Amino acid sequence: MYNFLQNFHSGWAYLTLLAGVLFFVMIGYYAINKKARNNFITKLSFFTTLVFHIQLIAGVVLYFVSPYAQWTENTMKDPINRLYAMEHPLMMFAAVILITVANSKLKKSEVVKITPAILGLIALACVVSRIPWEAWLG
Ligand code: HEM
Repeated sequence: MYNFLQNFHSGWAYLTLLAGVLFFVMIGYYAINKKARNNFITKLSFFTTLVFHIQLIAGVVLYFVSPYAQWTENTMKDPINRLYAMEHPLMMFAAVILITVANSKLKKSEVVKITPAILGLIALACVVSRIPWEAWLG
């Protein structure tokens, strides 16, 4: 159970990053060129939100079974422990909320606006800043 979840969360992170980058680039491009929202953009936004939500669910379950996400009296003093127990989950939650809001804003206007692209960029920054890069790719 733990190994499966860890591998899934680790692999799905590639898809999450890819979807986040595509979301920002394409929605930014459409917004700058004042293009109308089409089927491609609506679907891209939907699938990005879905990919983020799936990663969130896997992360929440993993949080309860991972030996790295344990709370002790030293959690806040140890940067690695603090990252897994607090910073990573909080920032990733924030990213999922931002992508969800961006998706809902995008659906409300016929012409693509810049706001969803900016929200997407902030969401990406949250993700990139709190991924345990060493453990993931190192
Ligand atoms: C939605 C965006 C998220 C992304 C892109 C993401 C990405 C990652 C990555 C790349 C790792 C390292 C995997 C490895 O070492 O191979 C990781 C680990 C972890 N993540 Fe996330 N995560 C996200 C959300 C969450 C959330 C919301 C939680 C908890 C509420 C969470 C909890 C964890 C835990 C506990 C680990 C350590 C797993 C272990 O090795 O035992 N993640 N995450």
